[in-house]
Amino acid sequence: MAEEMDCTLAMIKPDAVAAGKASEIQQLAEMHGFLIIAKRQLQLTTRLAEDFYAEHKGKAFFNGLVEFMTSGPIVALVLSKAGAIRAWRELMGPTNVFDARLKAPKSLRALYGSDGTRNATHGSDYPQSAAREIKFYFPNLQLASAAEDAATAQE
Ligand code: TYD
Ligand code: MG
Repeated sequence: MAEEMDCTLAMIKPDAVAAGKASEIQQLAEMHGFLIIAKRQLQLTTRLAEDFYAEHKGKAFFNGLVEFMTSGPIVALVLSKAGAIRAWRELMGPTNVFDARLKAPKSLRALYGSDGTRNATHGSDYPQSAAREIKFYFPNLQLASAAEDAATAQE
């Protein structure tokens, strides 16, 4: 039986999908030891984007964020790895692309993003948000068995 694994919810945002970088980013994730255990490409409606980012409602950047996130298709991924939430945020780098370029030049946001909003990727920030966000995109996913199937397929 597969070891129990941590999961996080990642998104490849509209800027990176439109630039044709979705496959490359998934390959990088796999090279860094993440298993892709679920995947969906879709375009968010305003309502869905507002729900997904509800914690940021009322902030100055909220409307611009929603506009960006609804501007084209995204790819939502469930990624599994020991310590997945932190490891994925580490691979993404800082939220602001200009910070990322300075502090983590090889990070995904440094490589594929373009500013403070158009930052190429998303990752859950703590276990409760990972659970909420995974359910948001994959309401029917049975996490334990999906992680096991993905691990078995890789052996
Ligand atoms: P946040 O949850 O703070 O960052 P992260 O994605 O690293 O968890 O913010 C959510 C998104 O909102 C962020 O990826 C980009 C956008 N955003 C802005 O456009 N301007 C800002 O000043 C901040 C903090 C975030
Ligand atoms: Mg966040």
